[in-house]
Amino acid sequence: MKILGISGSPRRGKTTDRLVKEVLGAANCETEFISLAGKKIAPCSACLACVPDNRCKIPDDMAALREKILSADAYVFGAPNYFSTLNSLTHCFLERLCQFRHRSGSALAGKYAAIVSIGGITPELPAQVMEAMLPYYQIKHVGTVTAQGAASCFTCGQGESCSVGAVSILLGPGQKITPENTPDLAKQPEKIQEARLLGKKIEACLLANVSAGEEQVSSQAV
Ligand SMILES: Cc1cc2nc3c(=O)[nH]c(=O)nc-3n(C[C@H](O)[C@H](O)[C@H](O)COP(=O)(O)O)c2cc1C
Repeated sequence: MKILGISGSPRRGKTTDRLVKEVLGAANCETEFISLAGKKIAPCSACLACVPDNRCKIPDDMAALREKILSADAYVFGAPNYFSTLNSLTHCFLERLCQFRHRSGSALAGKYAAIVSIGGITPELPAQVMEAMLPYYQIKHVGTVTAQGAASCFTCGQGESCSVGAVSILLGPGQKITPENTPDLAKQPEKIQEARLLGKKIEACLLANVSAGEEQVSSQAV
């Protein structure tokens, strides 16, 4: 039983990475965390070259992830909100799962996925899109956790004077940035708790699958 956690944030070690890891850490089974940061993953080009063998032919970093995706029993997909939807790196990754959809249904059918969705202001929007993509791959949705991350406006150096940035939107114009008013996952213990419960829930789904499979084998043996 293996859970693959994939964070689509281009910022390593930030909120998306951290919350995906919280989900993985709570599940008592084999897990692997992959950050898409720095990876080159192009959008699906609709070339249909994957139809004969369920293998995408675009020569980029998605190729090295293919076997890990196929061999995992469950996923944690994490993405940040960029302009009221999931960021394009995560979207490209999820589009490219299209290589598994051909001929006799999806090669990912029956696997489980939990969703981690982060935003500076509206964390729930990436989740809506990711949840809508899962049925295309016949992946079962286990649950979603959302949390607030610190927008880069808190560290860009112009946040206090910028009239269009997240600092002005969240705190009001002209406010000083302090550690107290900077969003941080550590200040959202209920979200960490939710993430851990989600990890336990994936584990329970996988265990139920294993015992259902064992029952089937033993009833066939009788
Ligand atoms: C280009 C860009 C666009 C963003 N757009 C939004 C947005 O529309 N709504 C929102 O709530 N947060 C937005 N954010 C803030 C991010 O969602 C927030 O910083 C989040 O914590 C990023 O996840 P990370 O910390 O894991 O990198 C945006 C950030 C960037 C860099």
